[in-house]
Amino acid sequence: MIMERKPLVVVPGLVRRDVIAYLQEHVDVRQWTEKTKMPREVLKEWLREADGLWSINSISVDADLVKDAPNLKVIAQASVGYDNVKIDDLTAAGIPYGNTPGVLNETVAELAFTLIAAASRRIIENAAFVKNGRWAERPSNIKGFDLSRRTLGIIGMGAIGVSISRRARAFGMTVVYHNRHQRNDDQLYRTTYMELDELLATSDVVCIMAPLTDETYHMCDAEFFKKMKKTALFVNVGRGAIVDTDALIDALKNGEIDYAALDVTDPEPLPADHPLLEIDNCLIVPHIGSYTDRTRYDMSMLTANNLIAGVNKKPLTTCVNEQINYKKPEMDVESALAELKKAGVDVTDFD
Ligand code: DGY
Repeated sequence: MIMERKPLVVVPGLVRRDVIAYLQEHVDVRQWTEKTKMPREVLKEWLREADGLWSINSISVDADLVKDAPNLKVIAQASVGYDNVKIDDLTAAGIPYGNTPGVLNETVAELAFTLIAAASRRIIENAAFVKNGRWAERPSNIKGFDLSRRTLGIIGMGAIGVSISRRARAFGMTVVYHNRHQRNDDQLYRTTYMELDELLATSDVVCIMAPLTDETYHMCDAEFFKKMKKTALFVNVGRGAIVDTDALIDALKNGEIDYAALDVTDPEPLPADHPLLEIDNCLIVPHIGSYTDRTRYDMSMLTANNLIAGVNKKPLTTCVNEQINYKKPEMDVESALAELKKAGVDVTDFD
């Protein structure tokens, strides 16, 4: 008897064990488990045989990576952002790409708002005095500021931006935003669209939620920071390279803005001797926007399910290049009615 081989999925780094176990119920997994980054040439070699790739954001996914991978039917990654992926290259190669929108919205919004709240009240600096037994020595100039009656300006108002805006309104803030195009639901979310310069001049907190693209690369440069209020807080939960890091350091040092709170930096990780780490008025966390147990599980399972679907040429649940996503097989009317009956739907009117 000829045993049909299971499709092969390459995983070039660490993924939580429970999800790998789930993936292995459906496919063969070849995983790079070394602590060092998988060399690109080795990855390309492994991909020659592979049906699917679980990509990670430190890998450039492009035409070169997939050119000698004739069986590759799907690539998926456990993140909503895909700035490491050349989608057009994959589309040209006929490979659907799955990301993880939706499941992380509330979690990333919680982190963004946690940064805003922690920075506004200088939580880290104040807590450090208590922790170090220096409660009474705390200088009076680390007072912080109110969020109520202040304006939050969100640049890149997608689903996560909307979730942040709900939290901001609960704190009594006014929310304005800038996108390439004005949204059509401003009334619903009680948000106001502004041109970029007006947003920068108006906002007490400027929060970057945009994706990294050719257009947004280094959008926050020296000019950008000069247009902000001197008292403003700058928050980045989008991507590090949207910000010109040298310009941010200058703006913080020269008092052009008051404070920065960053979940993402350029580069990542920041080397221990990076000048950004010497800046006092800057709070940095290590890209933990979606990093809660539940959400990382949901993102990993969505990625696993996109891969399982793709290797079987079935539609990915969340596909960026939807135009080449696999289609649901067409059903004839008889089979469709049978399916509905099986699901308990009364189909007498259709018979
Ligand atoms: C993403 O999914 O792109 C986020 O950066 C995760 O935190």
